[in-house]
Amino acid sequence: MMRIIPIASGKGGVGKSLVSANLGVAFAQAGQRVVLADLDLGASNLHLVLGHHAPQTGIGTFLNNTKSDFANVITETDVRGLRFIPGDNEIPGTANLKVPQLKALVKQLMALKNDTDILILDLGAGTHQSILDFFLLSGQGIVVSAPAVTAVLNAYVFLKNAVFRLMFTSFGKSSKARTHLEKLRKDGAGHQKLYIPKILPEIKAIDRESYDRFVGHLEKLRPRLIMNMVDEPKDADVAMKIRRSCEEYLDLKLEHLGIIYRDAIQDTALSSRLPIILYKPQSILSQAIYRIADKILQTDEDTYTLNDKEIDESFQEAGMEAEIDFDNKLEYVEDLLHSGALTQGDLIETVKSQQIEIAKLKKENSFVKLKLTQAMQQGFKA
Ligand SMILES: Nc1ncnc2c1ncn2[C@@H]1O[C@H](COP(=O)(O)OP(=O)(O)OP(=O)(O)O)[C@@H](O)[C@H]1O
Ligand SMILES: [Mg+2]
Repeated sequence: MMRIIPIASGKGGVGKSLVSANLGVAFAQAGQRVVLADLDLGASNLHLVLGHHAPQTGIGTFLNNTKSDFANVITETDVRGLRFIPGDNEIPGTANLKVPQLKALVKQLMALKNDTDILILDLGAGTHQSILDFFLLSGQGIVVSAPAVTAVLNAYVFLKNAVFRLMFTSFGKSSKARTHLEKLRKDGAGHQKLYIPKILPEIKAIDRESYDRFVGHLEKLRPRLIMNMVDEPKDADVAMKIRRSCEEYLDLKLEHLGIIYRDAIQDTALSSRLPIILYKPQSILSQAIYRIADKILQTDEDTYTLNDKEIDESFQEAGMEAEIDFDNKLEYVEDLLHSGALTQGDLIETVKSQQIEIAKLKKENSFVKLKLTQAMQQGFKA
């Protein structure tokens, strides 16, 4: 069976493409037959992370003529076992695709199952319906977030929209449940006042069949979180906020796949046109990717439902890993110093620039926090 792993975030620029490309390489190295698809149409850049030149043909080529041979847009990569489907910047974005185009694309992606073990979908930012539908192609999508308040909020909002989309599609067109949901939507301020534990009993009372179908689907929805761009161990704590909101307001259990530190080495990897795990497999960043890839490979798709204890453990583990990686990061700097690869002067420069960056981020954060306090209170209470 082909595993589908959609990678989403809500907010842009948090590392979806970095995670997609490097997990793709890691899975291929582990002997899996992997296809990596860039579905961030209109803003495709996954080829850059892979170190490929701007592609001549991509998904857009197929979408412009859905009768054409899909095999033409699948390319080999330098990594054995890893194939790549480039996106397209010529077409105006995933959000603008027509339903027949989306259907044709999904059909072709599903048909990959004959010779593919893992299909990774790098999704665009935002919560447009078509992005949610790609995310819901699988119960085990990954949401990438970062410690910044905006990123956390967007990750939650993305998951909330995904659950509501699932609810909507679970209810038949003229079902009582669908009518009720639409009425709630109209009455309330958008999704603001809707939350699952409140709505479910209402649906159950008026339309048992729709209720059962949705609950059946919701049980299989087990999204997983990656916290990227972490600077220090306590940054990792914000993951708990997303988790709690998901449990309280969405009846959704979120597993923590782990944290990834922010590392300037990624810039060097990018300009060297190599995914970081090929460029520097020993770096803390690459090791974090391998650790996450292992966790994913170890979970058995068919029986994949974590109980409360395992969910708890996944968050504790991520917290511990954050501490360990931080220590390793410091040791790494010490090693560089001893070996002379990094001079005291370099170190002072690095620390200075990091402090400036952190100070800048803190300022930005408190400003955003101020602006968002209200929105958060409403959003998270929803
Ligand atoms: N852990 C990290 N350390 C350092 N740089 C990182 C890290 N993760 C991502 N980056 C950098 O941050 C930028 C954004 O990452 P990336 O393109 O993967 O995000 P994205 O979520 O795919 O963005 P978009 O929404 O634009 O598609 C890139 O320049 C990437 O190299
Ligand atoms: Mg991207």
